[in-house]
Amino acid sequence: MPTQPWMDKSLSPDARAELLIAELTLDEMISLVHGPMPALVNPPPADAAMGAGYIPGVERLGIPPLNETDASLGIANPRKIRPGDGATGLPSGLALASTWDPELAYAAGAMVGSEARDKGFNVLLGGGANLAREPRCGRNFEYLGEDPLLTGVLAGEAIRGAQSNDIVCTLKHFALNDQETCRHVVDARIDEGALRESDLLAFQIAIERGDPGSVMCAYNRINGEWAGENDFLLNQVLKGDWAYPGWVMSDWGAVHTTAKAALAGLDQESGEQLDKQVYFGELLKEAVQQGEAPFERLANMVHRILRSLIAHGVFDHPAERRETDYQANAKVAQSAAEAGIVLLKNDGVLPLSGMRKVALIGAHADVGVLSGGGSSQVIAPGEQGLEIPVTMGPSSAFSRITYHPSAPLAALRGLLGNVAVTYDAGTDPQTAAEAARDADVAIVFADQWCTEAEDLPTLSLPGDQDALIAAVAATGVKTVVVLETGTPVLTPWLDDVAALLQAWYPGVRGGEAIARVLTGEVNPSGRLPISFPRSTDDLVRPQIPGMIFGPPVEGKTIPTSFPGVQQHKGRFSVEHPEGADVGYRWFARAGKPTAFPFGFGLSYSRFGYSDLTVEGGDTVTVSFDVTNTGDRAGTDTPQVYATVAGGPRLIGWSRVALQPGETRRVTVTADPRLLASYDVSLPGWGIAAGKVEVAVGTSAETMTLRGEARLAARTLKP
Ligand code: BGC
Repeated sequence: MPTQPWMDKSLSPDARAELLIAELTLDEMISLVHGPMPALVNPPPADAAMGAGYIPGVERLGIPPLNETDASLGIANPRKIRPGDGATGLPSGLALASTWDPELAYAAGAMVGSEARDKGFNVLLGGGANLAREPRCGRNFEYLGEDPLLTGVLAGEAIRGAQSNDIVCTLKHFALNDQETCRHVVDARIDEGALRESDLLAFQIAIERGDPGSVMCAYNRINGEWAGENDFLLNQVLKGDWAYPGWVMSDWGAVHTTAKAALAGLDQESGEQLDKQVYFGELLKEAVQQGEAPFERLANMVHRILRSLIAHGVFDHPAERRETDYQANAKVAQSAAEAGIVLLKNDGVLPLSGMRKVALIGAHADVGVLSGGGSSQVIAPGEQGLEIPVTMGPSSAFSRITYHPSAPLAALRGLLGNVAVTYDAGTDPQTAAEAARDADVAIVFADQWCTEAEDLPTLSLPGDQDALIAAVAATGVKTVVVLETGTPVLTPWLDDVAALLQAWYPGVRGGEAIARVLTGEVNPSGRLPISFPRSTDDLVRPQIPGMIFGPPVEGKTIPTSFPGVQQHKGRFSVEHPEGADVGYRWFARAGKPTAFPFGFGLSYSRFGYSDLTVEGGDTVTVSFDVTNTGDRAGTDTPQVYATVAGGPRLIGWSRVALQPGETRRVTVTADPRLLASYDVSLPGWGIAAGKVEVAVGTSAETMTLRGEARLAARTLKP
């Protein structure tokens, strides 16, 4: 008999976990279900890798400590708790989602997972699969847009990639954490069927494809119960209907009770110093001893943790610190940025050619590219760039406005050779206009900083950037706008500019990626994963619930109390009348066209679709030809939508790289849940027999081919 029989790889992860549990004392079991933020422990645990979370191991049994790091967009290092430790910063989640490319999402996840191992981490906290219901949400840049299929597929692939490194990846924030304002008090209310068809479907698809070892709860309540003690979400849906075998960890400071949370399905308390008490330490031990929480539940909590660690290779291939090849990893970030940049307008000025002088303006384009704030903040290797302190708002405690050191100016100069490329900071519209006046093209960079813990008061570009763009365009010089924003913005100057490029937060090689798209080294292929509304009046909630505005400061309206916790003691509810109709589905239902629709994006080529066939039955299968009718090689992303319950739903897409004149036939088969309605009385998914309309389009608002098929009646389990 080996001394550690649970190390026998021929046994199942469940059997190995049970062997370990038989050896654990009650105290050891308790020690595995709660843990601190190591940076707030003095002195920090000797074996902590100094990320956001730490759970001590049990050395005598070979159970490794859990070293947890935020990792939505790379290995995070907010507040530089690991001084000097840089990492490869990916483009934002919305940029990654704009690629619509599952293989790139896998590669990005695999790269982040490998850096985690290099730094001694074995649990990644991210990414997120929350749907962007609120375009002003401060964390949209960490998420993957507004569609459950696109979000689920890409989140799942990123997780699969990350976990290919023998580590655990966490899917977050379960669920309906769709606004940062009041995130610690808000009760998000929604109809069950609508929730199943939207946010929960995104998580469900991500879990099916990615098999994450853990799931993190959100801060908010859902239909009256905190996410971390929500029996419906955790026990019934996640662990019941979906048979999820992994563990559920809390968000940092999101635990409110002991026995209630444990019984509702929470398995681990994270970042415990942020909770009012350590609920899963001595208090849980007492609850178990007094029978308020059965011992079997504690054993199951520990089982789920150990099982995931074993199933995902943490026991058999422990993380060991290694040197990181940042040059190689930056190429992954650059590929994602290049594929995620979306060309929103082009009157022919792009790609740049035949120029004598180009004037670059604004957004610190001489230094780098913007990134988003909060727990996901990555610090680039080498740590130059630019950091601007944040002086007000809840994020000021942990965020700095950070520009990764990848300057569009240097990158463009490198690519444009003998062309004169000038730079003006853009702080004064008139000076900038002067700087543009004798150029052939002016390229105005505009940005919008977003951060965890705060939502945006408006969708307008902050500061005087709209006036800056308008002043430069008014010179008559052809003006290209490059947006580095965390979420959609309003573009009041659109008719006056020659081209518009949405570069999102493009990551550690963002400057190079932008330059290569501007000059045509890269043919843009990104498609929007989120709608750009014409006005905040068109949104489900024209005002963000709970955001409180004070008197104007220096003429500007700013929220005085972003999280609104003081103002909203006790219950504070946000209704979700849009139900499952998030984003483009809401705009279609409300009959409100957008400024730029979901799925939209231009190319330097043109593409045409023809010869549609649609087959029905248990689901729909759609085939059609895609032809590159332009004169450049390029990649197109035709999208297939079905009309279900009176509105459009994305049921699939294909990314097709084509040479000029080349045609390829593509086939898309729908996940039948996308053609169904969720019926709580079944319970499950129901498809009624009948006709379904499908269309192939270049966006949710532009359909090129239309067809229909007959669906057979069927039901599917939840
Ligand atoms: C965030 C999580 C993050 C955690 C640890 C929380 O504030 O909501 O996404 O993983 O902090 O840093």
